[in-house]
Amino acid sequence: MRIVFMGPPGSGKGTQAQILAQKLKIPQISSGDLLREAVANTTEIGKKAKTYMEKGELVPDSIVIELVEERIQNENEYILDGFPRNLNQAEQLDTVLFRLELPLNCVVYIDVPLDRLIERLSGRLTCRKCNAIYHKLYNPPTREGVCDVCGGELYQRSDDTESAITQRFETYTRQTEPLINYYKEKGILIVIDGTRTIEEIAADVEENISHDRV
Ligand code: AP5
Repeated sequence: MRIVFMGPPGSGKGTQAQILAQKLKIPQISSGDLLREAVANTTEIGKKAKTYMEKGELVPDSIVIELVEERIQNENEYILDGFPRNLNQAEQLDTVLFRLELPLNCVVYIDVPLDRLIERLSGRLTCRKCNAIYHKLYNPPTREGVCDVCGGELYQRSDDTESAITQRFETYTRQTEPLINYYKEKGILIVIDGTRTIEEIAADVEENISHDRV
């Protein structure tokens, strides 16, 4: 399976991609995690990406495409989370997958209205070590500040500030939303109501994916 998860910031792409990846035993490849890792390691890519990410703007395509392409090159199955993010990235991905003869099976779009997302983003906690995602109210860790999965330290992302969130919503609406139609026209879009609980959404995603596999 090669699946893309898309949706607005805070819609639960990462949360659902991690759950499904664990169920299907395939890797979850998050462009945001790859970029945050590069920033934390102060690599050349990380230095270039940092200012865009802190402002809530897209990192230039040339950087992200190279990063993702390198990561998927030796994988047959995976879940892409947060990539592609605009039409150019989607077309580049199609070109690479066509060359590899490994096309996408489906694109899961998690539909949540923007006004529901602020409280999700402001309560989010992420593990510094394994990137597991929690929420102070909706998905709290067993021990405060400590990851259930690996015992790592939980932190709040630096782009979950009010000004960066506003910019991320604007960027999403302008650049990423057009991909909904792009994938609808290809007949591979699955729309999931993302306003329910994490467990209900995960069950719905799994059911839709298994229909797709039959
Ligand atoms: P990225 O890391 O991809 O951020 P994003 O798209 O803004 O999405 P988020 O990670 O904020 O949210 P999510 O949908 O994964 O939600 P989550 O599961 O965490 O990108 C960050 C930055 O990197 C970008 O701004 C850009 O600069 C750069 N970048 C990344 N990819 C790029 C690309 N392809 N091209 C260019 N630049 C790129 O959930 C959010 C919270 O809600 C959590 O606390 C969770 O526990 C909670 N939650 C989840 N589901 C539910 C639910 N059903 N009910 C209640 N709470 C829930």
